[in-house]
Amino acid sequence: EAAEKGGYPHYMLKEIYEQPWVLENTLGGRLHEEEANVELGLDLDLARFDRVHVIACGTAFYAGWVGKYLIEELARLPVEVDVASEYRYRNPVVDERTLAVVISQSGETIDTLEALREAKRRGAASLGVINVKGSSITRETDATLYIHAGPEIGVASTKAYVAMLAAMEMLAIALGRARGTLDAGTARRLLGELRKLPRLVEETLERRPIVAHVAEKYHQATDFLFLGRHVQSPTAYEGALKLKEISYIHAEAYPAGEMKHGPIALIDPRLPVVVLATQGPLYEKTLSNIQEVAARGGRVIALASDGDEGIRQHAEDVIYVPEVHPLLAPIVSVVPLQLLAYETAVLLGRDVDQPRNLAKSVTVE
Ligand code: G6P
Repeated sequence: EAAEKGGYPHYMLKEIYEQPWVLENTLGGRLHEEEANVELGLDLDLARFDRVHVIACGTAFYAGWVGKYLIEELARLPVEVDVASEYRYRNPVVDERTLAVVISQSGETIDTLEALREAKRRGAASLGVINVKGSSITRETDATLYIHAGPEIGVASTKAYVAMLAAMEMLAIALGRARGTLDAGTARRLLGELRKLPRLVEETLERRPIVAHVAEKYHQATDFLFLGRHVQSPTAYEGALKLKEISYIHAEAYPAGEMKHGPIALIDPRLPVVVLATQGPLYEKTLSNIQEVAARGGRVIALASDGDEGIRQHAEDVIYVPEVHPLLAPIVSVVPLQLLAYETAVLLGRDVDQPRNLAKSVTVE
């Protein structure tokens, strides 16, 4: 087993460190700058859909939520995102111009499989965004976009998440190009940025000592709040999910702009608040959210882009990440949050790879 962990103390840490090459695999051969497009080999006419339903569970659901922002932005298609256990029973409005995108690492999650069947019964075309080759879901979708993350053993998903995000970026580009909503210049720029991701994630992994310091400082907290906006809202939710899954610390996430409608009441000097404050169109608004937390005595841990020295005035701790196109920020930003969950769980003596009550894939309802 020690050999399988490749010298790392846990599968989860090994898988976190595999993320640069996982991204190489996911993107490999699929980016075509000359045509300003991606080549996904999908047997689907992407121009014919007028709405998208994204369906998934757990971490895959958060990848789907990022996908909603991307597809709406680049392909101007209305996108709904549901957790599969809700979708199956909510009487969704579907027709033959609906594309159902089901996202699953294992390809075996029963709720996701049943939600896929429900969408198909109602006439949707279907696309799986899947890791495990030949898994149940891939046998029932019209097309599959494999994420090529390799086997994921740690129960808490890490490398499959970044691979799913990269796949959703490519899908949004493909839809945008097929529909004529994404011009060649913008597409080329995004492709160039996607190519940089493996290197940027590699660089982000080097920030582990700062994350370890933050974990050391806050691991006795009983609650954490994670805030983000736009594409970084799902990142906040994924950060909170990772922390609760493996450290058992209660963690909640909110879109930062919604904080004033409830969670602001929780803020006090014992509450660490992780704020995704990377560069992007909503940066200034996020900064005001940080000031609101700080003014109420909350302990702000900001995740900021390299070079943002000003943020130090408002945040007690800052974890810097390399700057990247705002639509790709979730891929880089989730890495320190995975490490924060990992380091915290280790400090608390938790069973990182086999957290209590959780299963790697849930095949019963
Ligand atoms: C379980 C796992 C999660 C995973 C979810 C969905 O709850 O513990 O890590 O995100 O299932 O799994 P899937 O294989 O469908 O992506």
